[in-house]
Amino acid sequence: MVLSYVTPYIRHIVVIGLAAVLFAILSREPPKGAHDEQATNFQEHQRLFTEQELAQYDGREGSKGLYLVILGYVYDVQKGVKHYGPGEAYNMFVGHDASRSFISGDFEEYSPELSDVSSLTDSELKSIVKWKSFYDENYTYKGKLIGRYFDERGELTEYHKVVLKRVARAEAEEAKPRQEFPSCNVEWKQETGTKVWCSSRSGDGVERGWVGKPRRYAKQEDKSPYCVCVPDGTESDALVPFENCNASSESCYVKEE
Ligand code: HEM
Repeated sequence: MVLSYVTPYIRHIVVIGLAAVLFAILSREPPKGAHDEQATNFQEHQRLFTEQELAQYDGREGSKGLYLVILGYVYDVQKGVKHYGPGEAYNMFVGHDASRSFISGDFEEYSPELSDVSSLTDSELKSIVKWKSFYDENYTYKGKLIGRYFDERGELTEYHKVVLKRVARAEAEEAKPRQEFPSCNVEWKQETGTKVWCSSRSGDGVERGWVGKPRRYAKQEDKSPYCVCVPDGTESDALVPFENCNASSESCYVKEE
């Protein structure tokens, strides 16, 4: 009697046990097929496109999708079809690289030169890189376009490296403390050493109504103090007259440090 209750009970335990073992075996490693699929997806996101392939993603009827390119990086912008779809304001950016239009606002007719950003300033290049970050944050990255920015192995081209160097230069320039006063004219001669002086065009070369006096600009965090022209009457701890030079002189000879 008791046995007749126990037997189905044991049978259940055995069945559950076997199921657990089977589950453990199956879940230890993903089936080969699934693993392959993951690898394919990964590669797809790192895909290299030729210009011909990418042209098939211009969003027109029968096209393969809506892919935008910036500095050779490719993004799926289907969710932004109201901006990028055929006939929409920013359709210029899809199906090809028109990086320069991000600055020039040239959205009318595409030509391959629109991928050339060499005529832009360092700071404009920095703005394009900011646009690229916008796409990283808001859209799906799909791969790289072989051409001006990436070679057929997906490596940065020399052209691209120069662009990045110029962007780094713009960042460094912007990180510099803002200089309130124009820098002095500087001249170095072996016989006399370094001469600094002020004129109404010294520093950035911009004409101004005052000449000013040379001062050593020595902000604490600055390891290399330099010379700025300050209008008469300017006083600051960071702006000191040069050694052995009259505070009212318009030029000074500077001792090398
Ligand atoms: C160089 C100039 C310009 C560039 C490169 C540019 C680029 C863009 C891009 C790429 C988008 C889509 C952003 C997204 O994916 O969500 C956008 C959206 C937009 N732009 Fe421009 N744009 C420029 C000038 C202008 C000007 C001058 C105006 C206004 C007169 C304007 C008004 C708008 C508006 C209203 C949106 C839609 C915002 C939204 O719906 O979220 N843009 N712009």
